[in-house]
Amino acid sequence: MTSPIRTERHDDVLVIISDNPPVNALSAAVRQGIDAAIKEGVADASIEAMVIRCDGRTFFAGADITEFTKPPVEPLLPTVVDIIEASSKPVVAAIHGTALGGGCEVALGCHYRIAVPSAKIGTPEVKLGLLPGAGGTQRLPRIAGVKLALELTAKGDPIPARKALEAGLIDGLAGEDSLADDAIAFAREIKANRPIPRASEKEAKADPEAVEAFKKENARRFRGFDAPAANIACVEKAASGASFAEGIAFERQEFMRLMMGVQSAAQRHIFFAERQASKIDDVPADTKLRDIKRVGVIGAGTMGGGISMNFLSAGIPVTIVEMQAEALERGTGTIRKNYEATAAKGRMKPEQVEQAMGALNPTLNFDDLRDCDLIIEAVYEEMSVKKDIFTRLDAIAKPGAILASNTSYLDIDEIAAVTARPQDVVGMHFFSPANVMKLLEVVRGEKTAGDVLATVMALAKKIRKVAVVAGVTYGFIGNRMLMPRQVEATKLLLEGATPEQIDRVHVAFGMPMGPFQMADLAGVDIGWHRDPTRIENIRDALAAENRWGQKTKAGFYDYDEKRTPSNSARVAEIIEDFRKREGVTPREITDEEIVARTLYTMVNEGALILEEGKAQRASDIDVVWIYGYGWPVYRGGPMFWAQTEGLGKVVAGLESHGFTVASSLKQAAASGGRIK
Ligand code: 3HC
Repeated sequence: MTSPIRTERHDDVLVIISDNPPVNALSAAVRQGIDAAIKEGVADASIEAMVIRCDGRTFFAGADITEFTKPPVEPLLPTVVDIIEASSKPVVAAIHGTALGGGCEVALGCHYRIAVPSAKIGTPEVKLGLLPGAGGTQRLPRIAGVKLALELTAKGDPIPARKALEAGLIDGLAGEDSLADDAIAFAREIKANRPIPRASEKEAKADPEAVEAFKKENARRFRGFDAPAANIACVEKAASGASFAEGIAFERQEFMRLMMGVQSAAQRHIFFAERQASKIDDVPADTKLRDIKRVGVIGAGTMGGGISMNFLSAGIPVTIVEMQAEALERGTGTIRKNYEATAAKGRMKPEQVEQAMGALNPTLNFDDLRDCDLIIEAVYEEMSVKKDIFTRLDAIAKPGAILASNTSYLDIDEIAAVTARPQDVVGMHFFSPANVMKLLEVVRGEKTAGDVLATVMALAKKIRKVAVVAGVTYGFIGNRMLMPRQVEATKLLLEGATPEQIDRVHVAFGMPMGPFQMADLAGVDIGWHRDPTRIENIRDALAAENRWGQKTKAGFYDYDEKRTPSNSARVAEIIEDFRKREGVTPREITDEEIVARTLYTMVNEGALILEEGKAQRASDIDVVWIYGYGWPVYRGGPMFWAQTEGLGKVVAGLESHGFTVASSLKQAAASGGRIK
């Protein structure tokens, strides 16, 4: 097998080049190749400096994550980085694309770093539940200071080359199209400089105040995660006066601890699950896509506006249609307000706001959708309304246009059936707020064409969504699994639990909020029959008293002017009255019962969805819950979590509360297998 590493001699400079597509991950072969090439350069008397660069779209994007579950192969990455740093001849890293994780650590092992302006540098290991384990936590603070090292390691977001230059993390910028030549020229400039600057020989200055401020600032973001604290501890160690070797030993210990833990396994699972989700089992990867030059959106309400923003931000023009001028004006006004708020936070330039707004074509004329390549309906959730719209669309949309509905529950096949082109109809279920939430459920109708699906999945990536294919079933994947959770949570109230207890269990689990906090935020009146005399459950009783949630300052909780919640004596009375009415004597409900009845039931529903072929794979379900509902990523989504919980325990828990367990779940539990 040929090595992914080759060398080129340019007189006195040896250029070491990696070609390991797609992202130059630092696989065993790459590590072996770098090791051999550095030795070659050191041994050759005619070589005075070396350059490490990569072919293809990026500098090393990190360790090869697929190797993490396999036996280690020498030389390990920390050794390779040490070999580079120990070189008696200066080594320059020439960076383009992304120098991430182990890739950043290779660059830190080099004595100099230059990058093209579009390059990004960072250590995203924390997002995989890890820390930079090849000396990164020790070299970063020594080169760029504790503050930046904390930002990079514990938060994991990469920084652009210019910022890296300002921080001293890189030594110079190269021309965007002349990196290879510029790196050789740079190597010649520094080849005689002595001593050779080695990060491990520098000292990091302790900054306890910055550490405390950083921890405080990010407490919410880090809640529940193990890895950020470990990253912080390693950076602190680097600046504690301990020797480099002691720091490395500590880093190794912490890296191994995280690597063996459930959280990192869960986060690595989600990394691959997210990428796997974009693949459609029976649609070839090279399917020719339809060209989407203009998108139409029907409805300028909250959903329609948010959906439009996704495309406008990606530079795709949008025609947005409303029936009334007032609604259209309000809708476009909200879009502008949202963009301006983003600009005020410095996340958008004023000219970008104008550019996005300039690509928006608001209209009251339905026929203006004629020239759109994709039309997304985002109107009231009522089948007859949807059918009417799709009938009209069928009459005016150009041939080959994709017709999508943003319905969250309704039958896409029934909607498609009113058109003469059901192959062009698909569901695109965005989550609110649609310009923020990352999840897109792409609903595949019985007749949806393969190229329609492939086009929508590719477009989702362009608008920075994580898309998952769902089959036609009430509520698709996410909302269908939400239903048993909500039903059980309400029953538990009747039987003796309080909203506070159930919410506390969910928040402790890692959800951003519990079922009742969510109901208060979304509106207790959603889906309510609006007849105050008809009280069939506790929710009806609350709605009948105008306790509609945060918007009426009362729901399952009471709210003050600032929307701070407090437990409600009135709600306790309502629940008590309802229990009396139903003849229920309250009993003590344990937290375990809440977990079994509100979380195991979701796993059970997920297994049914898989049995019915309404999701392609268990990991897709995990992606839906992580990106659509804030399931804690360190638990890997409901289906992954069930495995870590123990399928036997999940099945026993469900059975002990009288639920019918999905046969696939029972089988997997009995055979010690996985839910697929
Ligand atoms: N190892 C193995 N495979 C990787 C990989 C890695 N580090 N990074 C990406 N890939 C794979 C992806 O799984 C995907 O495979 P597929 O085509 O079969 O689905 C393929 O490369 C392309 O990846 P993307 O679809 O993500 O491509 P993009 O162009 O959208 O993004 C990227 C490129 C920004 C580099 C992104 O892939 C990324 O963020 N990668 C991970 C970076 C990372 O986490 N690095 C740290 C690794 S851990 C580490 O280094 C430990 C060390 O400290 C010891």
